[in-house]
Amino acid sequence: MPNEEKMVTLSVIKADIGGFVGHSSFYPELLDTAKERLNHAKENGVIKDFHVLRCGDDLELIMTHEKGCDSGEVHELAWNTFYRCTEVARELKLYGAGQDLLGDAFSGNIKGMGPGVAEMEFKERKSEPIIVFMADKTSAGAWNLPIYRIFADPFNTAGLIIDPTMLEGFVFDVLDVKEGKSITLACPEETHLLLALIGAVERYIVRSVYRKKDNEITAVASVQQLSLIAGKYVGKDDPVMVVRCQSGLPAVGEVLEPFTMPHLVMGWMRGSHHGPLMPVPFYEANPSRFDGPPRVIAAGFQMYNGYLLGPHDMFDDPGFDEARQEANRVAGYMRRHGPFQPHRLPLEEMEYTTLSGVLERLRDRFKAAQ
Ligand code: 13P
Ligand code: 13P
Ligand code: MG
Ligand code: MG
Repeated sequence: MPNEEKMVTLSVIKADIGGFVGHSSFYPELLDTAKERLNHAKENGVIKDFHVLRCGDDLELIMTHEKGCDSGEVHELAWNTFYRCTEVARELKLYGAGQDLLGDAFSGNIKGMGPGVAEMEFKERKSEPIIVFMADKTSAGAWNLPIYRIFADPFNTAGLIIDPTMLEGFVFDVLDVKEGKSITLACPEETHLLLALIGAVERYIVRSVYRKKDNEITAVASVQQLSLIAGKYVGKDDPVMVVRCQSGLPAVGEVLEPFTMPHLVMGWMRGSHHGPLMPVPFYEANPSRFDGPPRVIAAGFQMYNGYLLGPHDMFDDPGFDEARQEANRVAGYMRRHGPFQPHRLPLEEMEYTTLSGVLERLRDRFKAAQ
């Protein structure tokens, strides 16, 4: 195959393998444990390149290779890396060690085993700017609003109007997590239908986005829901999203722009509250106030021949100070509701938490209402 036809795969796989202190942050030395594993795999040609980051208490493996999406070899590498880190986390008695590893043995595909996965395979362009978003203390649907703004809202993305390559718009692949079905919707023509679905963030989750003109993959998000896999609350999904930028795709600044609004997401304390998603630089991704407010970091890369130049800390910009302040204001306002909705999540969303055990105690005390 001629070199320019070669496809590259970017796999971002994440898991909470143990928190420091509580769920607030990540024990720095464990990053080295993960790096050692991946470095070994790089030397052996399993992966081409990698970076290891963390957001709050979540370990993020960012890897490139030529094995395509759902590669058993790459998934197993991620699983073994998380497993090794968990062993160390257990020794150190870090909080919730191995929280997101639901099962002991790897079974071919890491999806459905707890970790979050966002992968895309594409032909590297002349220049390939990529942003990897990573969140903590929130759930998979948290990307719905920003991903809509990036690819379908001309008030956010000037390129939808200015750049002829984007004029026809983008196609959204949406997963119905309850029914296990998916649907594709094209924007701008099906904007209203798309919004009718994805406004319900607990059920309809945008999984990927393609440019309509040529079906070029432009964004993927992790959609794994930990509570659905575990059948109970063990922690929040803390999802990741990958977006390719520029040259006929939204510009880097257009991809970051939606995060100037700290929109309300599900998660925060005990995964049971609504709170604002605060964009922060890497070193501020330590959610401690009421285990939050929820955080998002953005790692920018320039890909070259399958290698990742970066990461560049995209929210390390005073341009996002106002968003952080607004997030703090909103966090304070929401907190004042205490245990009341809409700060606390509605009952249906609390189903997987320990609240059901509390309500159970009252069951026999209910009498028929007169
Ligand atoms: P492109 O070079 O990707 O078209 O972007 C133009 C630009 O000015 C972005 O702000
Ligand atoms: P994580 O999902 O980040 O582990 O947080 C869990 C939690 O319960 C925080 O209060
Ligand atoms: Mg945790
Ligand atoms: Mg977490």
